[in-house]
Amino acid sequence: MDNNTFPEGFLWGGAIAANQAEGAWREGGKGPTTVDMLPHGPNRLAVKLGLDKRVGWRDDEFYPSHEAIDFYHRYKEDIALMAEMGFTVFRTSIAWSRLYPNGDEQTPNEEGIAFYRALFSECKKYNIEPLVTLCHFDVPMHLVTEYGSWRSRKMVEFFTRYARTCFEAFDGLVKYWLTFNEINILLHSPFSGAGLAFEPGENHEQVKYQAAHHELIASAIATRIAHEVNPQNQVGCMLAGGNFYPYSCKPEDVWAALEKDRENLFFIDVQARGAYPAYTQRLFREKGIVIEKGPEDDEILKDTVDFVSFSYYASRCASADMNSQVTNAANIVKSLKNPYIEASEWGWGIDPLGLRITMNMMYDRYQKPLFLVENGLGAKDAFNENGEIEDDYRISYLREHIRAMREAIEDGIPVMGYTTWGCIDLVSASTGEMSKRYGFVWVDRDDQGRGTLERKRKKSFWWYKKVIASNGADLD
Ligand code: BG6
Repeated sequence: MDNNTFPEGFLWGGAIAANQAEGAWREGGKGPTTVDMLPHGPNRLAVKLGLDKRVGWRDDEFYPSHEAIDFYHRYKEDIALMAEMGFTVFRTSIAWSRLYPNGDEQTPNEEGIAFYRALFSECKKYNIEPLVTLCHFDVPMHLVTEYGSWRSRKMVEFFTRYARTCFEAFDGLVKYWLTFNEINILLHSPFSGAGLAFEPGENHEQVKYQAAHHELIASAIATRIAHEVNPQNQVGCMLAGGNFYPYSCKPEDVWAALEKDRENLFFIDVQARGAYPAYTQRLFREKGIVIEKGPEDDEILKDTVDFVSFSYYASRCASADMNSQVTNAANIVKSLKNPYIEASEWGWGIDPLGLRITMNMMYDRYQKPLFLVENGLGAKDAFNENGEIEDDYRISYLREHIRAMREAIEDGIPVMGYTTWGCIDLVSASTGEMSKRYGFVWVDRDDQGRGTLERKRKKSFWWYKKVIASNGADLD
């Protein structure tokens, strides 16, 4: 038993995303999205990066999001399992295209609203606070084919209409909101991150930063609307986090790490501080980027978020000549392999102290409450002879990261809560695999989409239940 508990009211729970869990991709009036275009297998990466342009499906490919884990039909059973663990918060996202199947309609699809109202009511039945992401990567495909997705300023109008619909329709059920999941992933995985695909010869950086500007404007307007609809609403931004360490103390490596951090933090610098940071002037000049801004934009950006949320799986490492060295891509962000830490089977460096470092840096920089909304170990699970999954590796990863988070709280950082990623096994965003599992609850489905979809509790399920019941004191 550890001595310190977490602050009273600290929110404990887990996280999923609509496109990785719901399935039912064509039910209830839902329109297809970017994520529905992502195949499992060797073609996935090029589609995600926007290099293999997709606007339809191929017969010879399997698309894991289409059925996913069928959360759409099984959410009651799944929320009951989360309640059994004692969750006080459950993070999921709304599929934009369930509410606006094409994205540019004037009025929402009532069936989509009814589904989420039922889902959030189910959470409330167990006193679980929903934490809701408006856009977890999935952009309605019609907005991609008709408008070029976030390249177009029109997206601000479509997104903010959708956001207003959500704030109004789910008022009284949801008070914690995130605008864009891992907004910085737009730079690293443009199609899966923001629906961007490229024409030959285009300046990719120009396209990406212009799209980023539109998302940042949309996020700020959505934040304002959330507060107008209900002053109790709390809105967060969301960073794919994990600091870059300099590979050595060579000043050039230290500088490279600082630049790499800025690349990601740029988004949060705007969302949490309300203006473009000074360093972007030189960055844009040197990359030949010219952002087209509206006359009101600087004013719009002043509507900053209430809290800063982030995912943390791994720390990262940078050097001045990293392009000529072997890199891996933990969570799609390129990094050098850190020789001082172990890595997961997918090469994501396991570094609990890196979480404390990241949290301290973020709080020093933003002075807003933090919320760790994704953390976990993707691993292969196997049944033992008794038909059980003894996922001690997952327990050990989570235990060490919870300890690190508590250290960060001891450091003086206000932390609102913790939602582990993929509290129930779901489709991996990077690889499309089911076998990269994060859950406390196992789902019978394999990488090719075979299986009964039956749910089963893992050893970590009982462990996390104890953690929550003791408010983080009992991590054994
Ligand atoms: C984050 C995303 O990038 O990491 C999730 O917000 C994703 O959607 C998670 O699933 C873990 O990554 P992966 O690739 O293992 O699923």
